[in-house]
Amino acid sequence: MALRQIRVDGDDILRKKCKEVKEVNERTLTLIEDMLDTMYDANGVGLAAPQVGILKRIVVIDVEYNEEESSAYVLINPVILEKDGEQCGDEGCLSIPGKVATVTRPYHVVAKYFDVNMEEQTLEAEGLLARAICHELDHLDGILYKDVAESPLRDAENLLEDEEEE
Ligand code: NI
Repeated sequence: MALRQIRVDGDDILRKKCKEVKEVNERTLTLIEDMLDTMYDANGVGLAAPQVGILKRIVVIDVEYNEEESSAYVLINPVILEKDGEQCGDEGCLSIPGKVATVTRPYHVVAKYFDVNMEEQTLEAEGLLARAICHELDHLDGILYKDVAESPLRDAENLLEDEEEE
Protein backbone atom coordinates (compact mmCIF):
# COMPACT_ATOMS: atom_id res chain seq x y z
CA MET A 1 0.00 0.00 0.00
CA ALA A 2 1.39 3.32 -1.02
CA LEU A 3 -0.11 6.64 -0.17
CA ARG A 4 0.47 9.72 -2.26
CA GLN A 5 0.32 13.27 -1.03
CA ILE A 6 -3.02 14.94 -1.74
CA ARG A 7 -2.62 18.37 -3.29
CA VAL A 8 -4.73 21.07 -1.68
CA ASP A 9 -6.54 24.10 -3.06
CA GLY A 10 -4.02 26.79 -4.00
CA ASP A 11 -1.73 24.26 -5.73
CA ASP A 12 -1.55 25.21 -9.43
CA ILE A 13 -1.69 21.61 -10.56
CA LEU A 14 -5.35 21.39 -9.51
CA ARG A 15 -6.16 24.06 -12.10
CA LYS A 16 -4.56 22.38 -15.12
CA LYS A 17 -6.27 20.34 -17.82
CA CYS A 18 -5.32 16.66 -17.77
CA LYS A 19 -4.10 14.68 -20.77
CA GLU A 20 -5.77 11.60 -22.19
CA VAL A 21 -4.28 8.22 -21.31
CA LYS A 22 -2.99 6.45 -24.44
CA GLU A 23 -1.91 3.17 -22.86
CA VAL A 24 -2.10 1.53 -19.47
CA ASN A 25 1.38 0.41 -18.42
CA GLU A 26 2.92 -0.69 -15.10
CA ARG A 27 3.28 2.92 -13.98
CA THR A 28 -0.38 3.59 -14.72
CA LEU A 29 -1.45 0.52 -12.74
CA THR A 30 0.72 1.58 -9.80
CA LEU A 31 -0.78 5.06 -9.95
CA ILE A 32 -4.32 3.61 -9.89
CA GLU A 33 -3.50 1.33 -6.91
CA ASP A 34 -1.96 4.29 -5.06
CA MET A 35 -4.97 6.48 -5.86
CA LEU A 36 -7.34 3.87 -4.38
CA ASP A 37 -5.15 3.48 -1.27
CA THR A 38 -4.93 7.25 -0.86
CA MET A 39 -8.70 7.71 -1.31
CA TYR A 40 -9.61 5.02 1.23
CA ASP A 41 -6.98 6.23 3.71
CA ALA A 42 -8.50 9.73 3.56
CA ASN A 43 -12.08 8.38 3.82
CA GLY A 44 -12.93 9.89 0.46
CA VAL A 45 -15.48 8.62 -2.07
CA GLY A 46 -13.50 9.77 -5.09
CA LEU A 47 -10.09 10.96 -6.20
CA ALA A 48 -8.78 12.32 -9.48
CA ALA A 49 -5.19 11.94 -10.68
CA PRO A 50 -4.38 15.69 -10.54
CA GLN A 51 -5.16 15.56 -6.81
CA VAL A 52 -2.01 13.46 -6.42
CA GLY A 53 -0.07 15.65 -8.86
CA ILE A 54 -0.51 13.59 -12.04
CA LEU A 55 -2.10 15.34 -15.03
CA LYS A 56 -3.79 12.28 -16.54
CA ARG A 57 -7.49 11.66 -17.17
CA ILE A 58 -7.96 9.00 -14.50
CA VAL A 59 -10.41 9.00 -11.58
CA VAL A 60 -11.28 6.45 -8.91
CA ILE A 61 -14.66 6.43 -7.18
CA ASP A 62 -16.17 4.27 -4.45
CA VAL A 63 -19.36 5.54 -2.86
CA GLU A 64 -20.20 2.33 -0.98
CA TYR A 65 -16.94 1.01 0.40
CA ASN A 66 -17.01 -2.32 2.17
CA GLU A 67 -14.07 -4.59 2.93
CA GLU A 68 -15.64 -7.77 1.58
CA GLU A 69 -16.11 -6.76 -2.00
CA SER A 70 -14.65 -4.00 -4.11
CA SER A 71 -17.19 -1.48 -5.32
CA ALA A 72 -14.59 0.84 -6.78
CA TYR A 73 -14.79 2.31 -10.25
CA VAL A 74 -11.62 3.17 -12.12
CA LEU A 75 -12.47 5.48 -14.99
CA ILE A 76 -9.88 6.26 -17.66
CA ASN A 77 -10.57 9.07 -20.16
CA PRO A 78 -14.15 9.37 -18.88
CA VAL A 79 -16.73 11.46 -20.73
CA ILE A 80 -20.30 12.22 -19.67
CA LEU A 81 -22.65 11.35 -22.54
CA GLU A 82 -26.00 12.16 -20.97
CA LYS A 83 -27.20 13.94 -17.87
CA ASP A 84 -30.68 14.65 -16.61
CA GLY A 85 -32.59 15.42 -13.46
CA GLU A 86 -31.26 17.46 -10.59
CA GLN A 87 -29.98 16.92 -7.07
CA CYS A 88 -29.00 19.61 -4.62
CA GLY A 89 -26.79 18.71 -1.69
CA ASP A 90 -23.55 19.21 0.18
CA GLU A 91 -20.28 18.28 -1.39
CA GLY A 92 -16.74 18.13 -0.11
CA CYS A 93 -13.33 17.43 -1.61
CA LEU A 94 -10.12 15.93 -0.27
CA SER A 95 -8.29 18.92 -1.79
CA ILE A 96 -10.39 21.35 0.27
CA PRO A 97 -10.14 19.65 3.65
CA GLY A 98 -12.74 20.28 6.34
CA LYS A 99 -15.11 22.25 4.13
CA VAL A 100 -18.43 21.63 2.38
CA ALA A 101 -20.76 23.65 0.18
CA THR A 102 -24.06 23.15 -1.60
CA VAL A 103 -23.81 22.04 -5.22
CA THR A 104 -26.56 21.19 -7.69
CA ARG A 105 -25.69 18.28 -9.97
CA PRO A 106 -27.63 16.11 -12.42
CA TYR A 107 -29.43 13.25 -10.68
CA HIS A 108 -28.65 10.79 -13.43
CA VAL A 109 -25.67 10.51 -15.75
CA VAL A 110 -24.41 8.13 -18.40
CA ALA A 111 -20.66 8.12 -18.88
CA LYS A 112 -18.29 6.26 -21.13
CA TYR A 113 -14.76 5.46 -20.11
CA PHE A 114 -11.95 2.99 -20.64
CA ASP A 115 -11.19 0.31 -18.07
CA VAL A 116 -7.67 -0.81 -17.09
CA ASN A 117 -7.61 -3.09 -20.16
CA MET A 118 -8.35 -0.02 -22.30
CA GLU A 119 -11.73 -1.45 -23.25
CA GLU A 120 -14.54 1.03 -23.61
CA GLN A 121 -17.29 0.75 -21.01
CA THR A 122 -20.50 2.56 -20.21
CA LEU A 123 -21.63 3.47 -16.72
CA GLU A 124 -25.13 4.60 -15.82
CA ALA A 125 -25.37 6.22 -12.41
CA GLU A 126 -27.73 8.16 -10.19
CA GLY A 127 -27.67 9.85 -6.81
CA LEU A 128 -24.34 9.95 -4.99
CA LEU A 129 -22.49 8.03 -7.69
CA ALA A 130 -23.70 10.48 -10.35
CA ARG A 131 -22.59 13.37 -8.12
CA ALA A 132 -19.17 11.81 -7.59
CA ILE A 133 -18.70 11.26 -11.34
CA CYS A 134 -19.50 14.93 -12.06
CA HIS A 135 -17.21 16.15 -9.26
CA GLU A 136 -14.26 13.94 -10.23
CA LEU A 137 -14.55 14.65 -13.97
CA ASP A 138 -14.48 18.38 -13.22
CA HIS A 139 -11.07 17.85 -11.57
CA LEU A 140 -9.70 16.61 -14.92
CA ASP A 141 -10.42 20.03 -16.39
CA GLY A 142 -9.09 22.02 -13.46
CA ILE A 143 -12.51 22.74 -11.95
CA LEU A 144 -13.11 22.54 -8.19
CA TYR A 145 -16.58 22.20 -6.67
CA LYS A 146 -16.25 25.59 -5.01
CA ASP A 147 -16.29 27.09 -8.53
CA VAL A 148 -19.77 25.69 -9.19
CA ALA A 149 -21.19 25.76 -5.65
CA GLU A 150 -24.18 27.95 -4.91
CA SER A 151 -23.29 28.51 -1.28
CA PRO A 152 -20.08 29.72 0.34
CA LEU A 153 -17.76 27.08 1.79
CA ARG A 154 -18.49 26.26 5.40
CA ASP A 155 -16.90 24.02 8.01
CA ALA A 156 -17.73 20.35 7.59
CA GLU A 157 -18.43 20.04 11.35
CA ASN A 158 -21.65 21.94 10.79
CA LEU A 159 -22.78 19.21 8.44
CA LEU A 160 -22.12 16.52 11.03
CA GLU A 161 -23.97 18.48 13.71
CA ASP A 162 -26.96 18.86 11.39
CA GLU A 163 -26.97 15.15 10.73
CA GLU A 164 -26.81 14.32 14.41
CA GLU A 165 -29.80 16.51 15.09
CA GLU A 166 -31.97 14.62 12.62
NI1 NI B 1 -12.57 16.66 -5.26
